[in-house]
Amino acid sequence: MSLNPEKAILSTRPELFDFHGVSMVHYFTDNWENVQNFQARPDDILIATYPKAGTTWVSQILDLLYFGQTCPERQKTIPIYERVPFLEIAIPSLDSGKDLADKLPTTPRLIKTHFPVQFVPKSFWEQNCRIVYVARNAKDNMVSYFHFDRMNVVEPEAGEWNNYFHRFMEGQLAFGSWYDHVNGWWKKKQNYSNIHYMFYEDMIEDTEREIDKLCSFLGLSRSAEEKKMISGGVQFDKMKKNEMANYSTLPVMDFKISPFMRKGKVGDWKNHFTVAQNEVFDEDYKKKMKDPTLQFRTEI
Ligand code: PPS
Repeated sequence: MSLNPEKAILSTRPELFDFHGVSMVHYFTDNWENVQNFQARPDDILIATYPKAGTTWVSQILDLLYFGQTCPERQKTIPIYERVPFLEIAIPSLDSGKDLADKLPTTPRLIKTHFPVQFVPKSFWEQNCRIVYVARNAKDNMVSYFHFDRMNVVEPEAGEWNNYFHRFMEGQLAFGSWYDHVNGWWKKKQNYSNIHYMFYEDMIEDTEREIDKLCSFLGLSRSAEEKKMISGGVQFDKMKKNEMANYSTLPVMDFKISPFMRKGKVGDWKNHFTVAQNEVFDEDYKKKMKDPTLQFRTEI
């Protein structure tokens, strides 16, 4: 899985372009036809998020809930991006997410996507698959995405913070607008009952409680002891050190610029937003987030 043959391609950052009304980069659209024709199975579990909302955290939890006891070697030898393939990713010289998902030997298959709801391949709906959606407050999500874009060559250049701040509000980032993403999935939940919509901030507040809720949604009975053990094992410091969960084995990221497991906190936005930016942001947020039933916490 060396990236060397394609170094020339990956040394250039991708451009953002409009794709069916959503800003995207080609690494997530090149395999579009195959991804759209992906054959989901009824027991597949889709983990859906806007980038940087807690995907890896929930992926690790689900992998442990399903396979921690039956296949403990898995967590020690297979990186998270192979245990839970990223469906739409297509990077030259690496297996595509779709191929990795097709090859998954597990039941259920755990599959990750950052697609807005309207891009999800239709077989997931036809098969009535369970979907875990994780959302994170916009301010921390923006900060996390900024640092990720600085260090990840498959993303457009982050550029300077104030410019990034405005691009986030305008939805000019890969996978488009955070506002459309979280609202689109929230609306879908109203008529598709197999979505469990959860929040990063709740996981920070009480990981065990959120694992309990996941178990109820997935119909899993796990002992209190096991759930406690999983919760302890997926705390930020543990996952940051865990090479099979921290992305340190993936060559497209430069940890010298910023680590994947960066801070893992609620409220880091306060170290980035100026007072003026915060005012502009809040004003704009009120206009875009009109549904009173969808509420985020920017501090806990
Ligand atoms: S990605 O690239 O979209 O899949 O990234 P994603 O996993 O969604 O989000 C990465 C952010 O989640 C934080 N993270 C965690 N926080 C708390 N506890 C645990 N265990 C944990 N694991 C990942 C990670 O640090 C990124 O957030 P920031 O704010 O940048 O630290």
